[in-house]
Amino acid sequence: MEKKTVRAGIVGAGFSARFHYDAIQKVYGANVDVRGVYALDAEQAAQYAADRGIRAYDSLASLIGDVDVVHCCVLVAGHEEVAVAALEADKFAIVEKPLTGYLGDGTEAFHGDRFPKQDALDHGLASVERMLAAEEKSKGRILYAENWVYAPSIQREREIIEKTGAQVLWMHGEEAHSGSHNPTYAYWKHSGGGVMIGKGCHPLTAALYLKRVEGRARDGRPIRPKTVSARTHALTRMDNFRDEGFIRRDYHDIDDFSMMHVVFEDNTIATVFASDIILGGIHNWLEIAANNHRTVCQINPNTSMQTYNPAEANFADVYTVEKIETRQGWTNMPPDEDWSTGYPQEIEAFYRTVAYGDPVESDSRLAADSISTIYSAYVSAERGGAEVDVKVY
Ligand SMILES: NC(=O)c1ccc[n+]([C@@H]2O[C@H](COP(=O)([O-])OP(=O)(O)OC[C@H]3O[C@@H](n4cnc5c(N)ncnc54)[C@H](O)[C@@H]3O)[C@@H](O)[C@H]2O)c1
Repeated sequence: MEKKTVRAGIVGAGFSARFHYDAIQKVYGANVDVRGVYALDAEQAAQYAADRGIRAYDSLASLIGDVDVVHCCVLVAGHEEVAVAALEADKFAIVEKPLTGYLGDGTEAFHGDRFPKQDALDHGLASVERMLAAEEKSKGRILYAENWVYAPSIQREREIIEKTGAQVLWMHGEEAHSGSHNPTYAYWKHSGGGVMIGKGCHPLTAALYLKRVEGRARDGRPIRPKTVSARTHALTRMDNFRDEGFIRRDYHDIDDFSMMHVVFEDNTIATVFASDIILGGIHNWLEIAANNHRTVCQINPNTSMQTYNPAEANFADVYTVEKIETRQGWTNMPPDEDWSTGYPQEIEAFYRTVAYGDPVESDSRLAADSISTIYSAYVSAERGGAEVDVKVY
């Protein structure tokens, strides 16, 4: 089969725009012609473009006009605007996580601790519904960039569930490290919430995905979330937090610890932790307890490579693993961190969808269920962990 060429545009020129571009370089199922980048921060976009020999566009509309697919690598506040603009022009939108969010009421007085969380749920779902409506009318589609869905260990687990007809009884998982590097992350008005949405979305969406897979394999009907109970905490904002300098602590109005307990339509369960208080490097894993097998997906770190370094200075120029505090001693150092994390696989899959119409594993409905579960979880946390119904899409 002759490879098709797909024209791509990147929106945003920061952290995620960098790993999207790197993943595009590895696409082998289609030829990708990266036409350029557009970002609100024009200086950052100019530098990003110069570093990669691509064009910096001066408007979103002109970039969209030149491409088939738009990578939405902007902060959550811009996801709906960018994705809807792409869809209205019949283009595909690869949207970073979380799909969308509630950024507050726009007033100076807005504070994440002090508003009714039902507002976040209502407005978050209204945004989701506008995005789904735009997709409905478009020739393009939303491709939800939840890399955990495409992580090789999660895809192997998909295969096990499909081929053995497993019933997944309980999943538990976590995404955690010692604090995001992004200064804007400290504010609900920029992030749409705290660690429960920022990091919790990853293991949650992987768990929602695997239950969909189970139902799809059994009778073609995905098994969806039914209710959620949750707790959130702001441990580093406590007056009695004893700061030793290892954990970021300048959060303005967001949670830094969260626990979501999801009950699915078939009354099986998933428990998802997310936090910004964990030392020892990134801690991303999902364990699956099924009726016929048990799997631990170690996304990052994993033990495919372990290296011992007797002196910090030895590894001054060696990157080991995301967010690790020290390179001395034993380190679980993934030979290819992006690969274990699923970044190249998700981008490969999305280009196959754009070029040849391949089915999408991480689609807008999965993304919508994830947002619905998370903002319902914020409502639950506000009520001290009471069970809250989850609307599904
Ligand atoms: N999947 C992952 O592992 C992962 C990791 C990090 C970030 N992310 C997601 O990526 C997204 C961006 O995060 P980041 O860390 O790259 O942020 P960043 O601050 O590093 O970069 C954001 C970029 O977007 C631009 N921008 C912001 N709003 C815009 C708008 N409305 N229109 C055009 N440009 C706009 C800024 O100018 C900047 O260039 C977030 O949704 C975040 O959750 C995902």
